[in-house]
Amino acid sequence: MLPPKFFGRRQGRTIHKTKNFLLEHFLPRLLLNRNQPIDLPACFGTPKQRYCLEIGFGDGEHLAALAKANPQTGFIGIEVYKNGVANLLNILTGIREGNECPADGTVELAQGRVDNVRVFDDDARLLFDQLSDGVFDKIYLLFPDPWPKKKHAARRFVNPDNLNQLSRLLKTGGILQIATDHPVYKRWVLEQMRARTDFVWTAKTSDDWRNPPEDWHETKYQRKAIREGRRAVFFEYQKV
Ligand SMILES: C[S@@+](CC[C@H](N)C(=O)[O-])C[C@H]1O[C@@H](n2cnc3c(N)ncnc32)[C@H](O)[C@@H]1O
Repeated sequence: MLPPKFFGRRQGRTIHKTKNFLLEHFLPRLLLNRNQPIDLPACFGTPKQRYCLEIGFGDGEHLAALAKANPQTGFIGIEVYKNGVANLLNILTGIREGNECPADGTVELAQGRVDNVRVFDDDARLLFDQLSDGVFDKIYLLFPDPWPKKKHAARRFVNPDNLNQLSRLLKTGGILQIATDHPVYKRWVLEQMRARTDFVWTAKTSDDWRNPPEDWHETKYQRKAIREGRRAVFFEYQKV
């Protein structure tokens, strides 16, 4: 079967020296195996209390912050954009552009971090079938590309096929969190989710979706939205 068509960017113009170093020497340690079933507890070495997934983690700030704050949770991060993956590695190792790279290529996690992040550096849709049912407590989809033109609606990540997969991957009672700042996407998410019988919207008052949730950590795209005067919404759906 042909892989699904991906319409976003896979790589930016330049990846600087330190990022290339980390992609070569540190990323392999975090990468999930491809094309074979994934045993989540085993891939973290020791079983974790909870497992979370972030799809399209961008620069990785939210993923890295949550991983630091929740050492007993195993996080799977998926991002197809190489520069973003490299940025996550900067944060996890504390090695920034201009820092000395270890001559022997051995890189460790930054002080105060535990080994609780694993990465899939490709289209999320390629990973889904490798994962078992009901493995995640929470799935984060933060500021997915809005593809606002009607003719591009089929490219939106929130769609019935992907929602079927996310539903399958969540435990009963697990949470799907979707943030967006785009008016077209806000309506789109509400429409798509209203059609589902396997998710309920947890919001009780408008404050619940107008304000970020408790475990929130600001993302690059959220900052962009704020700069450009757009207000984000934070939808949380529970798998029933
Ligand atoms: C608008 S950005 C938001 C990034 C980040 N979540 C944030 O809030 O700053 C959307 C991200 O999703 C990634 N993405 C889009 N479709 C994807 C897919 N099918 N699989 C993995 N990543 C994807 C893009 O590469 C991009 O980095």
